[in-house]
Amino acid sequence: MAFFFVFRSIYTNFATVLYNKVKMKIQIINGPNLNLLGQREPGIYGSESFDSYLPELRKQFPDVQIDYYQSNVEGELINKMQEIGFFGGYNGIVLNAGAYTHTSVALHDCIRSLKCPVVEIHISNVHQREEFRHKSLISSACKGIICGFGLDSYRLAIEALKVSK
Ligand code: DQA
Repeated sequence: MAFFFVFRSIYTNFATVLYNKVKMKIQIINGPNLNLLGQREPGIYGSESFDSYLPELRKQFPDVQIDYYQSNVEGELINKMQEIGFFGGYNGIVLNAGAYTHTSVALHDCIRSLKCPVVEIHISNVHQREEFRHKSLISSACKGIICGFGLDSYRLAIEALKVSK
């Protein structure tokens, strides 16, 4: 009987380690002003905060470890991307770079140098908005782009990373 319990415990631990090893890991990174989701221009970005959306998103992907980071500071975004893209063992990054999308050569260079794929996303359809939002400096460095589906853009980006794994 004791042998059975020992065997079962070893088997369970082994299965957990294996499962955690094969579980996909995805990092979501939000740039400037995206900490204000829910309060900021709700007509464009909706009235749900990212903090309330994230648990819903995680529930839709029980097989994926979804980590989240937000910063308003360009250099901090780059530090995080380097940490994830080189050393984190992540399968991909979902990046909403906010306004830095339209201005940052530094983010472009960073994305190009990473080992894991990056999907550029936007909540709004930037091409239906002001002309300065039509140009992205990061698109050409990313694996793909999703925009205009509200918060669902994040889910679609994770689906895309899973499919193209
Ligand atoms: C945004 C679009 C950007 O143009 C804007 O600067 C943002 C949010 C979006 O998710 O729709 O901050 O990236």
